[in-house]
Amino acid sequence: LANALQGHDKPLIVSLALSGLAFCASFALIRWLGPTFVKAGFKGVDMAKHSRREIPECMGAVCAAVYLFAIILFIPFAFYKDVVAATSGGGNRDVVLQQQVNHVQEGRFLHRFPHSKLSSYLSAIVSLQTIASLGLADDLFDIRWRHKFFIPAFAAIPLLVVYRVDFGVTSIVVPLQLQPYLGPLLDLGGLYYVYMAAVAIFSPNSINILAGINGIEVSQSLVIALLLAANDALYLLTPYPHPATDSHLFSLSFLLPFIGVSLALLRHNWYPARVFVGDTYCYFAGMVFVVVSILGHFSKTLVLLLLPQIFNFLYSAPQLFGLVPCPRHRLPRFNARSGLLEPSVTPWSPARQPRWGIVGRGLRLLGRLRLLRVVVDGEGRLVETSNFTVLNLWLVWRGPLREDRLALEMTAAQAVVGLFGLFVRHRLALLIFKE
Ligand code: UD1
Ligand code: MG
Repeated sequence: LANALQGHDKPLIVSLALSGLAFCASFALIRWLGPTFVKAGFKGVDMAKHSRREIPECMGAVCAAVYLFAIILFIPFAFYKDVVAATSGGGNRDVVLQQQVNHVQEGRFLHRFPHSKLSSYLSAIVSLQTIASLGLADDLFDIRWRHKFFIPAFAAIPLLVVYRVDFGVTSIVVPLQLQPYLGPLLDLGGLYYVYMAAVAIFSPNSINILAGINGIEVSQSLVIALLLAANDALYLLTPYPHPATDSHLFSLSFLLPFIGVSLALLRHNWYPARVFVGDTYCYFAGMVFVVVSILGHFSKTLVLLLLPQIFNFLYSAPQLFGLVPCPRHRLPRFNARSGLLEPSVTPWSPARQPRWGIVGRGLRLLGRLRLLRVVVDGEGRLVETSNFTVLNLWLVWRGPLREDRLALEMTAAQAVVGLFGLFVRHRLALLIFKE
């Protein structure tokens, strides 16, 4: 293993240790800081409980802070060997310069400090800090989504600049079947950056809208992070050093502490939740995936792992784009009598039917296909339709479920789809792409 890691095993061990510490610190801080957060106004009502108690919200901010500390603390370890080699241990500038002149005169190898690798780290930190501030602002002020929608793209600018300078690949491999028409590579040019910015906008927002039941925001993020880490491991465990080793080590060193802080948060947020994660966590988690996948050059793999989120977004589109009214909360409805969750609904009155006939027909068709619960009155007018989220759809299919059962089944679905995505990436891709 040490051979495959090309001597990078020590930073990896430090990263694992820091992740363990990050877990412990988040675990304790989330517990201790709850009352402080409530006092500061960060609190929310758990809508799927009998008591409808207020519990601390925005605990993702604690995770983000601990995470950023861990990542910043890791920098000296990640670059220890390079710093020593570039300064020859002394660090005295004149001595080092003289040594370098000597080396050049003698035609010997001159060690250069990997500034590009350091700029990857720093740009990742800038992006993550930007998104953490956006999340906090959202938890504080409940910003309208049309106002906050593009902010993740701004947060991604440092990443895109580093990508451009460091890697710069904007072409995609064309499937074998299309190669006679398009050639082996299709250069998307500037469009590739638009695509990466779109992923940066999509990933944080998509996690925030697959939310509303205890534990689901964290458990889906953990599954994605674990699958990304497994993908990294596949590259690192090859018997020969893979050319992408550095990218995947970079990715792992950002994912491991994320897994640490998320496990701590999940412990407090799982049913029955003692804290809420807040938008800070959803945005932050989404951006961690963007950072590792853009700087690790595997943004298309991330898209495969986000398939459930893509489905939820497409399914939500009628409500997000205003064809069907979108209430402030679409989370499943708690039936106090049975203690189970049922699909939440949008009511339609006889006076307020869909504005366009085609929408009404579309809703009825979805109802017949069992892709929506539709209730109509004796005259065929809509009475109510379930809200367009994958959580509600699951309840339409499975019937009423307890909150933790629903979260568990959704997490399992995320894992199955993600594993299939990785399988497609590593096995089926060989059928349409030559390795
Ligand atoms: C997004 C969803 C919204 C959903 C909400 C739930 C869209 C467009 N927006 O809005 O439909 O209702 O997330 O997070 O799809 N809550 C619970 N139990 C939980 C988690 C949250 O009751 O397990 C409630 C709490 O009252 C909490 C609130 O949801 O205070 C948090 O909502 P917030 O994250 O502010 O909603 P949005 O992200 O704007
Ligand atoms: Mg939210």
